[in-house]
Amino acid sequence: MSRQREKAAARMGDIAPFYVMDLLARAKALEAAGRSVVHMEVGEPDFSTPAPIVEAGKRALDQGLTHYTAAAGLPALRDAIAAYYGDRYGVSVDPGLIVVTPGASGALQLVMGTLVDPGDEVLLADPGYPCNRHFVRLAEGRAVNVAVGPETAYQLDAALVRRFGSPHTRAALVASPANPTGTVINLDALREIQQAVSGLDAHLVADEIYHGLVYGEPAHTALEVSDDVFIVNSFSKYFGMTGWRLGWLVAPGAFVEHIDRLAQNIFLSAPTPAQHAALVAFEPETIAVLEERRREFRRRRDFLLPALRAIGFEIAVEPAGAFYLYADCSRFTDDSFAFCFDLLEKAGVAITPGKDFGRHRAERHVRFAYTTGMAKLEEGVERLRRYLGV
Ligand SMILES: Cc1ncc(COP(=O)(O)O)c(C=O)c1O
Repeated sequence: MSRQREKAAARMGDIAPFYVMDLLARAKALEAAGRSVVHMEVGEPDFSTPAPIVEAGKRALDQGLTHYTAAAGLPALRDAIAAYYGDRYGVSVDPGLIVVTPGASGALQLVMGTLVDPGDEVLLADPGYPCNRHFVRLAEGRAVNVAVGPETAYQLDAALVRRFGSPHTRAALVASPANPTGTVINLDALREIQQAVSGLDAHLVADEIYHGLVYGEPAHTALEVSDDVFIVNSFSKYFGMTGWRLGWLVAPGAFVEHIDRLAQNIFLSAPTPAQHAALVAFEPETIAVLEERRREFRRRRDFLLPALRAIGFEIAVEPAGAFYLYADCSRFTDDSFAFCFDLLEKAGVAITPGKDFGRHRAERHVRFAYTTGMAKLEEGVERLRRYLGV
């Protein structure tokens, strides 16, 4: 085969892997050899999908509901999602603005594909969810990775948007609660960010995938400040449906037709059995299960946060949501990537290196996920204590 034929598109040079995958492979190898590993690297709930959702999914399969749906999703599911905005946030959303997608990942691709022309810029927080800059790259845009720290609770704010915005800015993307930091943007800050973004003649994209997993004040949707925003959400995290691949997008009216057309072309539709299963996701019986899980995540956070601080990890901002703690480990190392591998090898604890979330101070940070039970977390902290000799 000629060299030319083997060459991937230039953009592939900019699409980084999840570095934690190598660590996970090593963890699996250690476990296969009989070692025990405490997993604090996994970015999905350890709970399986709530029983009512599973039952509804099974019923859909038994009834042969396995064909494509409309590209925007089952009308009944779009209605149910719209009703959820009324119940949970007190905002009225037209179901016609909702597009059901294969996960938040599908929604993010639709947004970038619809908004971004070659050379357009999208503002993103660094550290942040790494796939976002790759979605921008896929659309031939330019991700502007804005370094954020404790001063702004690791979030973009209006001043940063104005400072890093340019005539090329097409969108600013925020996630609240955020991955990897778990921090939340309050309503006033959301409003200011939205104003700053529209001042640039650009769009605010709010990734609300960790909504529901909030441990203090309930989170606010960006729809409370404007209807000229793109909202990305998912059944993956709060609803415990990662593998079903189901999420949604709420788009400004002017874009819905474009998004629908792009969805038809790149996905045809979101998985049909998953959509039928999700019809019961908002039922009180399901929400009761999810709320109990939320309380359990909160108990875990309330244990792990002070425990990690006590052994020397600096966690500058108390995370109010998601299931992550983003910790400065510079007291122990100036190479968090090597630190994670050494910790796994010597102590049997798996955590994610900062490098997976961007470049800004990545080498002095790690992410702990409390997606494992309390006993394992206690064991993990004990192993860390021994490893660090504190
Ligand atoms: C901030 C954020 N957005 C989007 C996603 C994608 O989630 P999914 O495609 O499973 O809905 C994730 C997954 O970890 C995430 O952390």
